[in-house]
Amino acid sequence: MAAYTHFFFVFLLTNFLPTTFAFSPTNHIPPPYNCHDHEKSALLQFKDSFIIDSSASADDPAAYPKSEGWKLDGSDCCSWDGIECDDITGHVISLDLSGSCLSGSIDSSSSLFQLLHLRSLNLAFNDFSHSSIPFVLGHLLPNLAHLNLSYSGFSGPIPSSISNLSKLSSLDLSSNLGLELKTNPDFKTLQVLHLDHVDMSSIVPNDILANSSSLVSLSLVGCDLQGVFPARIFQLPKLEVLLLDNNYNLTGYFFFIMDGSSDQTHSFISSQLTFKR
Ligand SMILES: *[C@@H]1O[C@H](CO)[C@@H](O)[C@H](O)[C@H]1NC(C)=O
Ligand SMILES: *[C@@H]1O[C@H](CO)[C@@H](O)[C@H](O)[C@H]1NC(C)=O
Ligand SMILES: *[C@@H]1O[C@H](CO)[C@@H](O)[C@H](O)[C@H]1NC(C)=O
Ligand SMILES: *[C@@H]1O[C@H](CO)[C@@H](O)[C@H](O)[C@H]1NC(C)=O
Repeated sequence: MAAYTHFFFVFLLTNFLPTTFAFSPTNHIPPPYNCHDHEKSALLQFKDSFIIDSSASADDPAAYPKSEGWKLDGSDCCSWDGIECDDITGHVISLDLSGSCLSGSIDSSSSLFQLLHLRSLNLAFNDFSHSSIPFVLGHLLPNLAHLNLSYSGFSGPIPSSISNLSKLSSLDLSSNLGLELKTNPDFKTLQVLHLDHVDMSSIVPNDILANSSSLVSLSLVGCDLQGVFPARIFQLPKLEVLLLDNNYNLTGYFFFIMDGSSDQTHSFISSQLTFKR
């Protein structure tokens, strides 16, 4: 009986759903709000602060200059490539210019920091020319939940202000040559933390991620971690993926419990850890 019901449901969906969509009025009515003028001009200023250079995104085979179609005309910036706005307020909430051939730098006066409602920022696979991640980022974009600056040529210390992003749930700063983590940030809300190839040699591993009980995925490949990796990280309740490869001076051990009663997948991979059962 249950199987029959399921089959019938699938039949209904596959036969009638496309028709329903084709005539749905919601496909044709624009969102209730257009983008705000000050956010539109902030986006255009941001675009103009870079030059487009395909070699800036050489590591990304899918790269193309997303901001090239952004124009100061009557267009709604919410419909521009890489932009997402809130349905209700019309504020820009997501900026994804990953792999957009951007070459240049971002400083604290960048018009990026006028997009106060941003929840998601992805500038991965561009070339910010060894500039630092601006300190103001942690203070001026308080709604950020997703920050991705991987493969983007940032250098220097990761600003401590990043701990002030109290809604941050994923942070990817991987593969920026010369980026350093000098002090342990306090990440209470993070679920995903990827810092591959960030220089963490001055961090005392025992103190790291003391308050990060939400972590699901932690990747610290090639971070030059030194010393003993704390066993408590392995006991974080939600951790599913931990990558610690290529930390040649890192040691540690953990207990790997497989009792069949847990439905979590744990995959711990490291070249230098001692595994104990
Ligand atoms: C940033 O966080 C620090 C340490 O938690 C705190 O002292 C400071 O007041 C915060 N700054 C802002 C602007 O939220
Ligand atoms: C960061 O962005 C890149 C490019 O879009 C993507 O490949 C990567 O998976 C993202 N990282 C996270 C943690 O989502
Ligand atoms: C963890 O949280 C406690 C209490 O909020 C705080 O005292 C401590 O400094 C935090 N640890 C780290 C490493 O941030
Ligand atoms: C490992 O530690 C030793 C001794 O402190 C140091 O000389 C060496 O450079 C370190 N190696 C790496 C890859 O960090």
